[in-house]
Amino acid sequence: CAEHIAVAIDGPAASGKSTVAKTLAKRLGLIMVNTGAMYRAVAWATIQKGVNPAEASDVVKMLGEVEFRCGVENNLSTVLVDGVDPGEELRQDAVNGRVSKVAAIPEVRDLLVRMQREYLQLGSVVMEGRDIGSVVFPHTPFKMYIDASEEVRRKRREAEGIIDDPAARDKEDSNRKSSPLVVAEGAVVIDSSEMGIEEVVEAALEVLKERGAPQEILAKA
Ligand code: CDP
Ligand code: CDP
Repeated sequence: CAEHIAVAIDGPAASGKSTVAKTLAKRLGLIMVNTGAMYRAVAWATIQKGVNPAEASDVVKMLGEVEFRCGVENNLSTVLVDGVDPGEELRQDAVNGRVSKVAAIPEVRDLLVRMQREYLQLGSVVMEGRDIGSVVFPHTPFKMYIDASEEVRRKRREAEGIIDDPAARDKEDSNRKSSPLVVAEGAVVIDSSEMGIEEVVEAALEVLKERGAPQEILAKA
């Protein structure tokens, strides 16, 4: 849809992407799409089905047997696995440990990228992930890469009480062949190490203004 815009927010783990994307989307009345949750849903399904995430062909076979359905509720993206919402289980340790493995499989990415692009038919979106500005919506002018130092990111995860090793996942995500984590061409880099969430949201709004986002969207901010 020509009149719908996509705001792409990428960055490493615990840089603040989801929080910023959610706040920005809410202020502008846009749909917020959390693509990490989709990769996590595939990882969660491998646990349910007893599939080894390191065996790409088994994971691909599973894609043909399990239904992944994406939707929207209260302007937030949702994902169902055979009709079931995995909820908070998407953040569990076992999922953190295998999500980067399934996300490195090209067939998994092809399927999810297709579903991610379909959101634009529903309305304008703020989409966050690793490859939104580079692969999903390479032509959008509204691209940001939110960064933060490794130490700050580790502390943010600790503060949430989540067992995770963001640096290990970043390494896997940055080194894979298929759509690695990169600063997309044309993306504005925002280092949020010493910024609060509101400050990052203001910086993102500035990018939208500078790059000519539609007035009817900016007016809501
Ligand atoms: O919230 P956090 O930054 O820790 O992770 P996430 O955004 O939920 O993403 C979980 C994992 O999914 C990442 O570590 C990547 O392996 C993968 N992912 C991806 O490959 N591409 C995306 N667009 C989003 C997530
Ligand atoms: O989505 P991503 O993994 O990049 O990060 P997140 O889950 O949005 O943010 C990780 C944590 O850092 C959250 O608890 C945020 O409240 C916090 N945060 C922060 O303290 N300062 C920021 N500028 C951004 C996020």
